[in-house]
Amino acid sequence: MKTITLAIIGVSLFFLGCSDSDGLSENQTIDTKMKLGKALYEDTSLSKNRTMSCATCHHEESAFVDERESDIFHMAAKSADDNFIGDRNVPTASYASFTPDFGTVEEDGEILFVGGQFLDGRSKNLKEQAKLPFLNPIEMQMESIEEVIHRVRENDDYIEALKTLYSENIFDDYNKTFDAIADAIATFEKSDIFSPFDSKFDRHLAGTYILTAQEKRGMDLFEDEKRANCIACHPVLKEDDTAGLFTDFTYDNIGVPINKELRLLNGKGENFIDFGLFDNPDVNDSNLKGAFRVSTLRNIDETGPYMHNGIFKDLKTVVHFYNTRDVEGAINPETGEAWGKPEVNTTVNSEELGDLGLTDQEEDDIVAFMKTLTDKRYEK
Ligand code: HEC
Ligand code: HEC
Repeated sequence: MKTITLAIIGVSLFFLGCSDSDGLSENQTIDTKMKLGKALYEDTSLSKNRTMSCATCHHEESAFVDERESDIFHMAAKSADDNFIGDRNVPTASYASFTPDFGTVEEDGEILFVGGQFLDGRSKNLKEQAKLPFLNPIEMQMESIEEVIHRVRENDDYIEALKTLYSENIFDDYNKTFDAIADAIATFEKSDIFSPFDSKFDRHLAGTYILTAQEKRGMDLFEDEKRANCIACHPVLKEDDTAGLFTDFTYDNIGVPINKELRLLNGKGENFIDFGLFDNPDVNDSNLKGAFRVSTLRNIDETGPYMHNGIFKDLKTVVHFYNTRDVEGAINPETGEAWGKPEVNTTVNSEELGDLGLTDQEEDDIVAFMKTLTDKRYEK
């Protein structure tokens, strides 16, 4: 697989080499960057013990989440050496290129944080994000930027491609080299491979798929501001009325219970608090403690378990949580116990969710609608 990918870069460089070298068209450059990015994204030799790549945790075959067998039910990811367990659920890298750069917007006189990569927006954009997993001690575990670049330099195709695409002197300054590596990976992540927009929902908009009666009921509930009101945070369409990303990219604390099981496994203990957005160095408003970025719901049926801490295994449980979080005596069907306490209690959103009054059938209908957001290649 790897040799094939590299051969492709080789071929296209050969192709570029034959053309007038100053005359790289913009499309050729993007195409070659994408191929380089794909090879880097899939290259396990860029991790400490040469076993892990970006694709390990964000694999195309598994809707760009962790493809590995998981003895911790995929609640979080394990490090390359298998010794460490993370604390956040792996989000899909599909459609991540549509997340705007981290920043603020003003809405009804209120300043809201939006966008950014990671569930707390701590990376401004895809390029900045792509640098971090290499050096993360609970992910790819490389010691330094230098070490990553030494591994990249083991491969002549990479050297040639980076020089051709970025500059002949690209290896003179390792920060620039690292930037170029991240840029190539981000270019690959912006390709249609990650975001085909061909789910049943997209085909419904294009008029080539007719929603079943149940899917239609689920969509109507999802959009009904007086009932489920999911669109308050997960908009179905973009502002220009084309197919949306099912997130408004803002941040909210919806009161997700502490995942005690995960905290036992990763050794953080029950008292550890993930403050989400508040841990982002650009944020210091304590009202934002416990807020996480609204997730895209594209490919949601493929990317469980759910929420930033992987607490819910089933989509139906998620809907039941929104429906009954604040209802006296409500039970989490996965534990048989009451919904647990959230990590940060003081900032929980209690206006738009928690007691929706949906019937069991209506919960099922919403689940059926969310299953129409699966890209075609994953349809069963
Ligand atoms: C060990 C598993 C693992 C590896 C390897 C890994 N990631 Fe991730 N990725 C995660 C986790 C977990 C998160 C969420 C972390 C957080 O929010 O703090 C994440 C978040 C992301 C996001 C942000 C998605 C979003 O919606 O905000 C992108 C994009 C991404 N990873 C791409 C990559 C790239 C590119 C690589 C390789 C350079 C990579 N990942 C390697 C586990 C992994
Ligand atoms: C007030 C805003 C808001 C509303 C309303 C809302 N959500 Fe969410 N949703 C979020 C946030 C924020 C997250 C991420 C929470 C986290 O990870 O802690 C999320 C996460 C999810 C997830 C899990 C995503 C994943 O990848 O783990 C699903 C599924 C979901 N929402 C479905 C729904 C449905 C269905 C409705 C309507 C019944 C709804 N949401 C209403 C804000 C909202």
